[in-house]
Amino acid sequence: MMMMTPASSISPGGLLADHFYGSSWDRWRAVLKAAFAEEMSAAEFDLFREVADRDPPREPVQELWCIVGRGGGKDSTASAIATVAAVGDYQKFLRAGEVASVICLACDREQAKICLRYIRGYFREDANLEALIVRETDDGLELVNRVEIIVATNSYRSLRGRTIICTILDEVAFFRDERSASPDEETYNALMPALERVPGSKLIGISTPYRKIGLLYRKWAESFGKADEDVLVVRGTSRQFNPLLSQGRIDRALKRDRAAASSEWLAEWRADVSDYIDRALVEELVDRGVRERVCERGKSCTAFSDEAEGRTLIQSRGQAHEIIFRMDPIRREPRIAPLVLTPSDVKNDTCITVYWPGRGEVAIFTNRTAAGDRCNSHRR
Ligand SMILES: Nc1ncnc2c1ncn2[C@@H]1O[C@H](COP(=O)(O)OP(=O)(O)O)[C@@H](O)[C@H]1O
Ligand SMILES: [Mg+2]
Repeated sequence: MMMMTPASSISPGGLLADHFYGSSWDRWRAVLKAAFAEEMSAAEFDLFREVADRDPPREPVQELWCIVGRGGGKDSTASAIATVAAVGDYQKFLRAGEVASVICLACDREQAKICLRYIRGYFREDANLEALIVRETDDGLELVNRVEIIVATNSYRSLRGRTIICTILDEVAFFRDERSASPDEETYNALMPALERVPGSKLIGISTPYRKIGLLYRKWAESFGKADEDVLVVRGTSRQFNPLLSQGRIDRALKRDRAAASSEWLAEWRADVSDYIDRALVEELVDRGVRERVCERGKSCTAFSDEAEGRTLIQSRGQAHEIIFRMDPIRREPRIAPLVLTPSDVKNDTCITVYWPGRGEVAIFTNRTAAGDRCNSHRR
């Protein structure tokens, strides 16, 4: 087996060095070294820390999540990781007839094929790599070492039962599937057992950020800047990862549409997208026509509202107390501010009315445990 890591493959003298020429790729080299727990120089350490806000993991991580602006080199780098994984030797883990898969998943075939095209490019331009190809199809490559590289849409249904050595979730913030409310999470759940079969298998999530909801946001919220030994999350602007991009072009985009361009180029989460809170989730929690509700003793109540205009009125024993939500003082961004009322705050006859901007009064909390859990899962 070739002793090669993704970082070494894109460094001078490496298998893919010609495709990653020059110092503009240094940040990616640092991130890959960190993800595979390789030794780093002091300069690489700094490049890594700026986008990770943590020390490098001590062992290679199982999951690498790169939240990077457009044109930042996500597909180029992910396809290098996939290529290095694909040329490994997995014979001892495979049964007769079994193949090991490298799978690029995206919301549609066109997006998924970007990665495949890059991978094909690496194979075609290197005689040693090209010699490994047994068969080429529209959807991928089959190699002599019983590895297949395939692209697919983000349908988790076709993933079960496979042996996956590397998977790339491309633009995972935009995964959609009309048959599932959370195809990203379902795909992730289907992938994890498939990645367990061969030690060292990797999940690579790459995306520009979008809404503060879903798998990408959850991974960021759970693991960014944390000393997580299994999951590494990096986040950076397009220019932090690709300094060759023109600042002027980005400035013009920001001028045209600040919210959209901040997410595209500056890798900031969008807070303005109208379906920022999943409509279906809100609907599920709203009891239409119920304007106030008497809380039951011994059950806790959770209420929240859009804090941009959020007002919650608590009426207790005939007295009204208005609570006005504020901006998050630390992150300086609007977020859902939860108001948690414990049973001791809530008298038997306490009614809570929540005002929802543009829709007037709605009571969006109940004292149902299920509803409380759903609310809590969105508190950050
Ligand atoms: N750090 C970099 N240095 C040089 N060129 C880069 C860098 N990052 C990206 N590019 C170039 O920008 C283009 C888009 O890269 P790609 O990997 O598709 O970006 P993304 O998936 O992040 O949008 C490619 O031509 C790639 O070679
Ligand atoms: Mg891309």
